Amino acid sequence: MPDDFKDKVVLVTGASSGIGRATAKLFAVRGAKVAIMARTAAKLESLRSECLIPDNVLIIVGDVSIEADCQRAIQNILSKWAGIDAVIHNAGVSMRGAAQETDVQVFRSLMEVNYYSLVYLYKASVAALKERRGHFVSVSSMMGKYSTQLRAGYTASKHAMVGFMDSVRLELLADGVHVMTVIPGFVNTDVAQNAFAPSGSKHGVQDQAILGGLPPERVAIDIYNGMKARKRETVSSHFKERFALFLSKWNPSLLDKLLLKVKAT
Ligand SMILES: NC(=O)c1ccc[n+]([C@@H]2O[C@H](COP(=O)([O-])OP(=O)(O)OC[C@H]3O[C@@H](n4cnc5c(N)ncnc54)[C@H](OP(=O)(O)O)[C@@H]3O)[C@@H](O)[C@H]2O)c1
Repeated sequence: MPDDFKDKVVLVTGASSGIGRATAKLFAVRGAKVAIMARTAAKLESLRSECLIPDNVLIIVGDVSIEADCQRAIQNILSKWAGIDAVIHNAGVSMRGAAQETDVQVFRSLMEVNYYSLVYLYKASVAALKERRGHFVSVSSMMGKYSTQLRAGYTASKHAMVGFMDSVRLELLADGVHVMTVIPGFVNTDVAQNAFAPSGSKHGVQDQAILGGLPPERVAIDIYNGMKARKRETVSSHFKERFALFLSKWNPSLLDKLLLKVKAT
């Protein structure tokens, strides 16, 4: 695949907000045909109306934690554009709450939205991606590499994503499909407000750390460039989280001590 996404067909999940919205917009600006998936139709309509060629934007209203919705998404794309060059699975949800106080259903929902969705989209799209030697990309997190307090279910789901991606990368090597995991640090989006509270309701509160995070447009550029360069992994964060990632490998006990000093909500 040439290192340019003009006229390429790209699915972005979680495109109604934050990182997914910025990523879908960037690919549309660069001339790609973009399928945008999320549950909130009105937000997807608003994104399409901001794109230069609305006919190059396909809206897919669906829930990524439902296998049939993921299959329908890929089928709709193949019906409209007869192929698919890239899947960017970005839709996801976080949590705020100590493991002991958090309802078991929240742990299940986190796995369903963040991890099983990845399996569903992979199985639905991989044959088509092989035909075009395309890209299979997922947005995990620094929490897919190390863990902090009050995020046990979230970090488990994001670690699961990293493990899945590392395995299928090897399986797809001979087919020429590029597999990339995106590792964002804090990004200034609605992720904290949308996170699950311990009961499963919306947390509804913004975090200072998230407010001070990278703009989602910066992460979108990192995703775009990472795909162009067919990178294995793309880390998109301020220095602080990159340093924590370094410590998680080389001095995890020191990282534990530092993380205990940081407010986790
Ligand atoms: N912001 C950060 O600091 C940060 C850091 C590391 C990783 N990430 C990851 O980045 C990704 C994007 O998050 P964000 O920060 O942009 O948060 P966000 O603003 O809350 O956006 C989340 C997106 O996911 C969609 N979504 C959630 N559940 C869904 C479901 N069941 N089916 C379909 N779509 C669903 C939402 O759309 P609807 O509600 O309309 O369905 C929305 O478009 C997530 O995977 C998140 O874990 C974020």
